[in-house]
Amino acid sequence: MTADRSSVSRRGLFGAAGKATVVAGIAGGITAPFRSLGGVAWAAETPKTLKKWVLAKNVGDDNKLTMEHFKLVEQPMPVPAQGEALVQVMMVNIHSGTRNRMKAKGGTKVGETDDSNYAIARVLQSRDKTYREGDIIACQAGWNTHQTTTSERTRGGAGEFALVEELNGTKSRTSYVFRPVMLKQFKPDVLLDVFGTSGLTAYYGVRECGPIMPRDWIAVSGTTGSVGSMAAQICKAKGAHVVGFGGGLERAKWVTDNFGIPALDYRAKDLDAQLKAAFPKGIDVYIDGVGGPLAESVAKQMNQDGRYFSYGEAADIYADLQPNAKATASSATRDSAREFGMTDSVYKIVQDRNIKLEAWNQAVWAQDRIEAENNLSQLMNTKKLKAVNTVVRGIENAPKGIMSQYDGSNPYGKLQLQFAD
Ligand SMILES: NC(=O)c1ccc[n+]([C@@H]2O[C@H](COP(=O)([O-])OP(=O)(O)OC[C@H]3O[C@@H](n4cnc5c(N)ncnc54)[C@H](OP(=O)(O)O)[C@@H]3O)[C@@H](O)[C@H]2O)c1
Repeated sequence: MTADRSSVSRRGLFGAAGKATVVAGIAGGITAPFRSLGGVAWAAETPKTLKKWVLAKNVGDDNKLTMEHFKLVEQPMPVPAQGEALVQVMMVNIHSGTRNRMKAKGGTKVGETDDSNYAIARVLQSRDKTYREGDIIACQAGWNTHQTTTSERTRGGAGEFALVEELNGTKSRTSYVFRPVMLKQFKPDVLLDVFGTSGLTAYYGVRECGPIMPRDWIAVSGTTGSVGSMAAQICKAKGAHVVGFGGGLERAKWVTDNFGIPALDYRAKDLDAQLKAAFPKGIDVYIDGVGGPLAESVAKQMNQDGRYFSYGEAADIYADLQPNAKATASSATRDSAREFGMTDSVYKIVQDRNIKLEAWNQAVWAQDRIEAENNLSQLMNTKKLKAVNTVVRGIENAPKGIMSQYDGSNPYGKLQLQFAD
């Protein structure tokens, strides 16, 4: 599975317009000499304006997300203040919580963009102590072609962690200059996907559930999605018996075809029986970013002294996409939210069977980023790990891309918006 394969389905979704892609004037690198403007080095090609999608109105409780919620604005290119850098945003990851952030109680405010996305960007001008012109950096970015950023920004990270600051030269766990060795080996979509928050969650999750042994029987939920697809591949690379899941037979087959592991349709009426057949010796490890009813079924078949990594609650986030949404929505079956999507009954099984529980945000391991990058690189280079992403190109197509995450189109792997090469 490659970016190209996903792009094929994406083109099918949006037709020629989706293919159209990078907006004229923002594509390509900044190669011409810099000139000085008010004391700031200014690249000759830097456009005078930027394009940005902002939230036009909040998403309601019905969860419907339409073009009416987005507005495209054009703004003058900002001049970076002391301590800031102006960057061209090349690509952003869209995370599953985007729609919830667009609700009245969410973090994205009307008239503003959602700037919480993990992104890859090119530094055009810099008055920042860490970023230099021409650097390719990881940062948090909005649905926009350009913006200012700073290595002093603590949001989404933890400046209080001295080790991370020492490593990144920034006050954020998700902001750093990419190492040349990484830029040389991997394209932006892979850097954001495999070496971004998704791949790192999978890597640290498997590591902390380890050591994974060939005798382990492992269930991995969300295997058609971003984190789960990588966690399943990493476990398989360690020689374990891995079983994945997909929403429907076709998606389960996609998992098998792409990763060479058996996969079950988590919507099947006889899922419990299918699980028993797939795990004749019970389940030793469950890696779960979903929660809800599937976690209930899996937990029942977990072995004494097993390991359980709970990192997300996709069942809740995408409850309205399930064919029998009312019956399966985790809010209907959940006693209370504990660790991400875990219900009380799952939590009780974990306690009763002495199952080791891991539940954290990947950012807590940020000081281990180089170790993770090196090990994930090795898996990529030995073809034991494939990046799975769906790239939507062009700033104009950003809302369509975001909506596709919630309209049943079900992009495989990580959904990414590309604004520039
Ligand atoms: N703790 C951390 O550090 C961390 C990091 C990254 C993400 N997360 C969280 O992890 C979760 C998953 O993230 P992601 O980026 O991997 O999501 P994603 O790419 O959107 O994938 C979601 C996956 O969940 C599956 N799914 C949806 N509803 C389901 C249900 N009712 N039962 C079983 N499976 C269901 C989907 O399967 P189908 O599409 O085939 O139906 C898909 O494979 C989110 O809650 C996210 O916030 C946490």
